[in-house]
Amino acid sequence: MQLIELKNVYKRYNNGVTALCDVNLSISKGEFVFVIGDSGSGKSTLIKLLYRQEKPTRGDVFVGGINMSKLRNGRVYKLRRKLGIVFQDYKLLPKMTVYENVAFALEIYGLRRDEIRRRTLKAIEQVGLKDKLRSYPSELSGGEQQRVSIARAIVNNPKVLICDEPTGNLDPKTSMEVMEVIDRINKELGTTIIMATHDEKIVNRMKKRVVQIEKGIVTRDVLKGKYKDEGI
Ligand SMILES: Nc1ncnc2c1ncn2[C@@H]1O[C@H](COP(=O)(O)OP(=O)(O)O)[C@@H](O)[C@H]1O
Ligand SMILES: [Mg+2]
Repeated sequence: MQLIELKNVYKRYNNGVTALCDVNLSISKGEFVFVIGDSGSGKSTLIKLLYRQEKPTRGDVFVGGINMSKLRNGRVYKLRRKLGIVFQDYKLLPKMTVYENVAFALEIYGLRRDEIRRRTLKAIEQVGLKDKLRSYPSELSGGEQQRVSIARAIVNNPKVLICDEPTGNLDPKTSMEVMEVIDRINKELGTTIIMATHDEKIVNRMKKRVVQIEKGIVTRDVLKGKYKDEGI
C-alpha cells in the first residue's frame, strides 16, 4: 500500500456543499505533490482529510496504512506525530522565541532535554535560521516566520509534510525562498511533501507532480506538471 491513498472519497459539509467528489489519489513515499485549483475548489478539504481535521462522507482515506475513518479520536495524536503541518498564517506562539516555538512541539513527547536541544537546533538549521534562535516572531519577516513554522513541523521527523498555501502571505521572492527550503527537506530528508497552492509561478518553477482539483473533482494528475495544461 502507498503512503497515502484516497479511494472514492466524497466530502459533503453539513451545509450541503460537496467539497470533494469521487477523489482517487495515491502518493508514494518521498514524492512531492502540488494540489492546485481555484479558491473553493476543495484543496484545503483534501488536506484536512489527511490529518483527520475532517472525515470523508464516503470512501476511504489511508495515511501510512491507517484508515482515517476508523481511527478513534483518542488515537488522532498518534497519526499527527507522523505528520508535519504548515499553514498560510504560520501559527507561531508570539511570546516564545524561535527556539522555544520549535522545541515546544517536542516537549510533549517526554524526551531528554539534550535530545530536545539537539533535534530543535537541527530543524532550525535545516531552514537556515540558526542566527535567529532568540528572536521573537514579531521580530522576523514573513518568510522567516514561515521557515520557523516549517522547522516546527519537521522537528519530529515526520514521514509527511502537509502544507496548505504556505506562501499565501508572501511576496514572490520570499515565496521562492520558502519553496527552496521545502524542496531541500524533500531531497535531503526524504520527507513526502503534499502542498496545496494556487501560486502559478511556484508550480511552474518547481516542476513537480501536479494534482488539479476543480469543484471537488480531480481533473488532472501529471508528473513534472505546469499550473496550466499545456495541451497535446
Ligand atoms: N467547514 C465547512 N463547512 C461548510 N462548507 C465548507 C467548509 N469548509 C469548506 N467549505 C466549502 O467547501 C468548498 C471547498 O473549500 P476548500 O476545501 O476550503 O477549498 P480551497 O482550499 O480550494 O479554497 C467551498 O465551497 C467551501 O465554501
Ligand atoms: Mg484553502
